[in-house]
Amino acid sequence: MTDLLIRGRVLTFVEEPKGIDDTTSYRYFEDGAVLVRGGKVADIGDHADVARRAGAGVKVADHRPHLVLPGLIDTHLHFPQTQAIASYGAQLLEWLNTYIFVEEQKFRKPEHADFIAGRFLDELLANGTTTAAAYCSVHPESVDAYFGAAEARGMLMIGGKVMMDRNAPDALRDTAQQGYDETKALIAKWHGRGRAHYAISPRFAITSTPEQMEASRTLVAEHPECYVQTHLSENRDEIAFATSLYPEAKDYTDIYARYDLLTRKTLLGHCIYLSDREISVLAETGAVGNFCPTSNLFLGSGLFDRDRFDKLGARWSVATDVGAGTSFSMLETMDEAYKVLHLQGQRLTPFNSFYRMTLGNARALDLDDRIGSLHVGADADIVVLDSRAKPSMDLRMRVAGSLVEELFILQTMGDDRCVAETYVAGKPMKGAARAAKDAATSAVKSLETA
Ligand code: GUN
Ligand code: ZN
Repeated sequence: MTDLLIRGRVLTFVEEPKGIDDTTSYRYFEDGAVLVRGGKVADIGDHADVARRAGAGVKVADHRPHLVLPGLIDTHLHFPQTQAIASYGAQLLEWLNTYIFVEEQKFRKPEHADFIAGRFLDELLANGTTTAAAYCSVHPESVDAYFGAAEARGMLMIGGKVMMDRNAPDALRDTAQQGYDETKALIAKWHGRGRAHYAISPRFAITSTPEQMEASRTLVAEHPECYVQTHLSENRDEIAFATSLYPEAKDYTDIYARYDLLTRKTLLGHCIYLSDREISVLAETGAVGNFCPTSNLFLGSGLFDRDRFDKLGARWSVATDVGAGTSFSMLETMDEAYKVLHLQGQRLTPFNSFYRMTLGNARALDLDDRIGSLHVGADADIVVLDSRAKPSMDLRMRVAGSLVEELFILQTMGDDRCVAETYVAGKPMKGAARAAKDAATSAVKSLETA
C-alpha cells in the first residue's frame, strides 16, 4: 500500500489542557504533516522533516491552510433515532413513548436497519466523527446492520443491542433470557472482528426487570472485554420511576452498582442529578458520565455539573446523544457544552473542547493508544477542518489573531460545512460518504417508484 502524506496545520493533544494558554498540552505544526502507512500514523512533525523522511514518490494530500486533527469521537448516541431527531414538545419519558418506541419498531426490518445504518455512519463521517458508541435497537438484525456498515467503512465503532423487557411496547421487548442469548451471540459474532467493540446495553433501569439486570451482571462477568452502556439520572420523573422500581437501592446509581454494572468500561448517559455520593461511586469504579448538552437542552432535562465530576475525580466524556441530541456535529455539541457550563459559572476553554472531542473521549473509552491523538502507531483516523467554511466564519477569521481564537470560532460557528475531509485508517471518506449517500438515495427512490 502506498504511503500518504497529509499536509496542513497539524494539531494533536498529549495532555488535558490546564488553562486557556496551556501550550504544553498539545503539539502544533504550522506547516505540518502526518505520514500514513498501512492505515496507521507512521510519522508526524514539520512538513519539511516528514517529507524528507518519507522520501520521493510519496502521495500527498495538501490540505493547507486547514487544520489536521485526530478524528472526532462521540461516546453516546442512538443509531435507530436518526430519523427521529427534532421530535417536538416532550420531556424524556413522554418523548420515548410517543416517538422513540414507535421509531425503533421499524428496525425489525433488516432492509430498513441497513439503510439507516449506512446513512448514520456517513453522517458521522460528514461531521468528522470517526468513532462512536451507539445503541442499536432491540433487534439483533440492527446490530448486524450497524457493525456491517462500520466494517464496510473501516470504522472503529462501539455498539450493541438494547435489552429491554418491561415498560416498552410488546414489539420492542425481549426477555431476560432472550436478551442474554442474543447478546452472547452478537458478542461472539462481532466483538473484536476488525475494529468492532461490543457494548452490553441494558437501556436503563426502567426498561429492565431485576431478572434482566441479573442477566446483564452475568454478561459483564463473562465478557469483561466488552463495554457496558446505559442511562443514568437524566430527568426527575425518570429518577423517581427508576428508584421506585428498585426500592432496595440507595439511589439510582446504586441500582447499577448492586448488579456490578459499574466498571471502567461503563458509559452512563447524562448523569445530571447525581449526589456527591453517586459521583464518588463513579470515581471509585471508573465508570464514565456522558455529557450530552444538545440532548439535555432539547428534552429540557437539565445541566451537567462538570466541575463536580472533576472535583470528585470522576471520569466524563462528551456526546451528541442523537436523536434526543439535535446534531451529529461534535463542534455544535461543544458549542452547547460551553453554554451549559457557562450558565453554571463554569469554563470550557477552546483547547479543552478540542482535547475533549479527541484525546479526552479516547481516554474515556480507554482507546487512547489507538485513537484520539496523532502519535506514531496510532490508527490514522483524521479530520481536516476549514475555519473559513461559511462566509460569516471567513469574515470573523479575518480578525482572529491566534490558534485559540480560531478553535473557539470553529466550535461556536462551525458545523459539518467545516469538515473538509475525514480519513478512516488513512482513507478519505467524506467524498466517498457523499457518493454512497447519493447511490443509496437513488436506490431507495427506485424502490419507491418500482
Ligand atoms: N433513556 C433511556 N433511553 C433513552 C434514549 O433513547 N434517549 C435518551 N436521551 N434517554 C434515554
Ligand atoms: Zn441515550
